[in-house]
Amino acid sequence: MERDIERVIIDEARLSDRVSELAGEITQRYQRFDEPMLLVPVLNGALVFVADLMRQLPIKMRLGMMAVSSYPGQSTASKGATIKRSLDSNLELRGLRVLIVDDILDTGNTLGVVQREIATREPASLETAVLLRKTDKDHGGVKADYVGFDIADEFVVGYGLDFDGHYRNLPHIAVLKREAYERAGCSTEDGDGRVR
Ligand code: PRP
Repeated sequence: MERDIERVIIDEARLSDRVSELAGEITQRYQRFDEPMLLVPVLNGALVFVADLMRQLPIKMRLGMMAVSSYPGQSTASKGATIKRSLDSNLELRGLRVLIVDDILDTGNTLGVVQREIATREPASLETAVLLRKTDKDHGGVKADYVGFDIADEFVVGYGLDFDGHYRNLPHIAVLKREAYERAGCSTEDGDGRVR
């Protein structure tokens, strides 16, 4: 697996430091609220980030998972967001402070769908935390309230992010070697030159 990596762009120490800082910011904001908190990781990519983040939030909370797919299989360009698993329809969001957690904000297709879906259920507040955000994009107008790192427009893997389902267990954020994509029979760019 490691031999497929071209370079590490964010190492474990920087990830750990920044996740702690984000947890501090989020704690400062949420600890003053009386309403309960609902953390909503967007699976699968948010798995590692949310696990590290939530253990540093000393706040009473529940978890409500959603799963969305925008880059199925070997895709490196967004195919549009499809909700694979939604929040429990019996869960009353009115009166809850909802924080969506995702690994990366790229085209904004994924978070746009998630934010709209949750907003229709009228939570007391709705915010979004992302570990990574691609710079030089408007993200389809989608905003994140907490951002770990702004990164260049490269397809990245590790710390939950995958290519074709692999590399989620890398402890850092990395760019793969071209051969790794070519072996899988795909290029890192689509017709518009957009990559995740
Ligand atoms: C990835 C990632 C984000 C989304 C961001 O998910 O985890 O949720 O893409 O891209 P966007 O801003 O262009 O929508 P993916 O579809 O690969 O599914 P996964 O979470 O199961 O990895």
